[in-house]
Amino acid sequence: MWLKSTAAILAVVASLAKAQIDRTGWQITSDSFQPGNEPTNAIDASTTSIFHTEWTPVNVPLPHNLTIDMKKSYNINAVSYLPRQDGNSNGNIGQHQIQLSSDGQIWGSPVVIGTYLDDASLKKSSFVTKPARYVRLIAITEAGNRGPWMSAADINVFAAASYTPPQNSLGRWGPTIDFPIVPAAAAIEHDSGKLLGWSSFAANTFSGGPGGMTQTCTYDPASGVVSKRTISNTNHDMFCPGLSIDATGRPVVTGGNNAEKTSIYDVNADAWIAAANMQISRGYQSQATLSDGRIFTIGGSWSGGQGNKNGEVYNTLSNQWALLSGCPVAPMLTNDAQGVYRADNHAWLFGWKNGSVFQAGPSKAMNWYTTATASGSTKPAGLRGTDADAMCGNSVMYDAVNGKILTAGGSPSYQDSDATTNAYVVTIGNVGNTPTVAQVASMQYARSFANGVVLPNGKVFITGGQARPVPFSDNTAVLAPELFDPATGKFTTLNPMAIARTYHSWALLMPDATVYNGGGGLCGTCTTNHFDAEIYSPSYLFNSDGTLAARPKINTISATTITLGSKLTVTTSSAITSFSLIRYGSATHTVNTDQRRIPLVPLSAGTNTYTLTIPNDAGIAIPGSWMLFAMNSAGVPSVAKTILVKSA
Ligand SMILES: *[C@@H]1O[C@H](CO)[C@@H](O)[C@H](O)[C@H]1NC(C)=O
Ligand SMILES: *[C@@H]1O[C@H](CO)[C@@H](O)[C@H](O)[C@H]1NC(C)=O
Repeated sequence: MWLKSTAAILAVVASLAKAQIDRTGWQITSDSFQPGNEPTNAIDASTTSIFHTEWTPVNVPLPHNLTIDMKKSYNINAVSYLPRQDGNSNGNIGQHQIQLSSDGQIWGSPVVIGTYLDDASLKKSSFVTKPARYVRLIAITEAGNRGPWMSAADINVFAAASYTPPQNSLGRWGPTIDFPIVPAAAAIEHDSGKLLGWSSFAANTFSGGPGGMTQTCTYDPASGVVSKRTISNTNHDMFCPGLSIDATGRPVVTGGNNAEKTSIYDVNADAWIAAANMQISRGYQSQATLSDGRIFTIGGSWSGGQGNKNGEVYNTLSNQWALLSGCPVAPMLTNDAQGVYRADNHAWLFGWKNGSVFQAGPSKAMNWYTTATASGSTKPAGLRGTDADAMCGNSVMYDAVNGKILTAGGSPSYQDSDATTNAYVVTIGNVGNTPTVAQVASMQYARSFANGVVLPNGKVFITGGQARPVPFSDNTAVLAPELFDPATGKFTTLNPMAIARTYHSWALLMPDATVYNGGGGLCGTCTTNHFDAEIYSPSYLFNSDGTLAARPKINTISATTITLGSKLTVTTSSAITSFSLIRYGSATHTVNTDQRRIPLVPLSAGTNTYTLTIPNDAGIAIPGSWMLFAMNSAGVPSVAKTILVKSA
């Protein structure tokens, strides 16, 4: 047993190591080159000689590509691109794809898509290991739109010592999406399913900035295009913020590097709005959207001074923040080795009935906060079983109808403190009642800085993290995610990803029922900056032989805006056995207070026609944008339709 598991671990380690391949004997070709700037310049030992597509006498139009024949097959898992180092940016690659082939004829779907940052820094795109002899780097745009060119100083390819094919039943990773920033926060846009990510004032660091601006990127799954934008009109460096999506589907971003600010992203107008300052400056606070559509926030001593970061509430309609004198932060503090600076960070908040908030952690003590009166109130809700303080652990409401929350991992102190494998199911009922807590089977891997995502079927995907959390380090990173099944109370370990996701990483469920796991780092010239995300496709998207499963389709829905307690009629392309609603998510620093799942029991109303009833409680169906999924008897989910749930 010991030998077997050691061998398995060694095999995983070998398949993840990235060794630079010796380029001797390689052949490299391009669709175009300027004499003197031949493609071989991109694989010679010199970073001063460059490859450049032809610019005179003809400007050969984009797209361009470089194709490398390594002369034998390797277990490829990364490609690096060094832009020209001569101070000239012409030809820097912007939007790009990386493809692999074993014969130079048949190219599979890209292993990397996305956009590089327009600068001279080394770009390294990592992806799950795949055997291949040929590598192709395609430039779709020039990073600064300076001309129709592609240039490169140096290209390297990296390989693992061995290859372990992913197991069909354990889901699949890829492609990798390259972003021109290190996204430390992200949210899904409900109208388009686009992913909005942001870093800080700079693409690669959060510290030493001028404040007042933020680098954002948007990935459009429909077109595959990643774009970049600098937001300065709200005068807000939105790094390390509180984050939740309001009752109309707008991400509301509070504090962080500019600790008093509030910025709202108007998804429909694609514009950022400067909103009222908070009463208390904060960074690392958590916030949750309430049953009445207001937003509650608490904690946040990382920025804007330390201590007394008591609760306050934001009315999105009147644009006013109000302190709640009855909602002190003291009951939810952890006993962190770094004191209050860390003790009030990243609360696990759940908006619940009648404007209340259930706080499930990370402190071992759980609490109720109410906001229905002008002062609000707080009440202890007991301990989370035998769990210790679990800073930077995960908490996910996988069944809001039955008040079910999974908690997993975390560590007693924020950093330099061993994470646990602990998992509990906390079941909440009426406001103020002590919840029931059941310890469930532990995870295989201890993790802190991981992320938790509820899937349409109610299983909870826990991804990334570190056994011993250390900001800006990927040591002890856990690459294999685990899937919690509420029916068995157990976790299953899944196929490992390629890229460590630790401090400053996030994961989100997308409307197509895949999970995006991205970010990590944002530490300047450090080696742990991750300008990317990896897409995970859960096993429900595949047949047992690994081919893509046929997906049911939601053809029509009777309404896309719906009030509590009302009925929805849905027609589908084939027979459906269950539906679920999952609220659109936002995530930063392990916290996603927006996602929650409502299982819906369909009533048959004719062939492939179903009636669904929305819960009649705004504490369960928090107002805002939700994804409606339909699942067939094989468990295959549809692509989601978006529904706006209104409280009245
Ligand atoms: C790459 O360049 C080759 C010429 O070297 C061309 O035939 C091919 O169409 C290009 N492929 C892509 C995907 O751009
Ligand atoms: C809602 O909460 C307020 C204050 O906490 C309380 O006075 C009121 O009775 C509650 N309403 C319901 C329906 O529970």
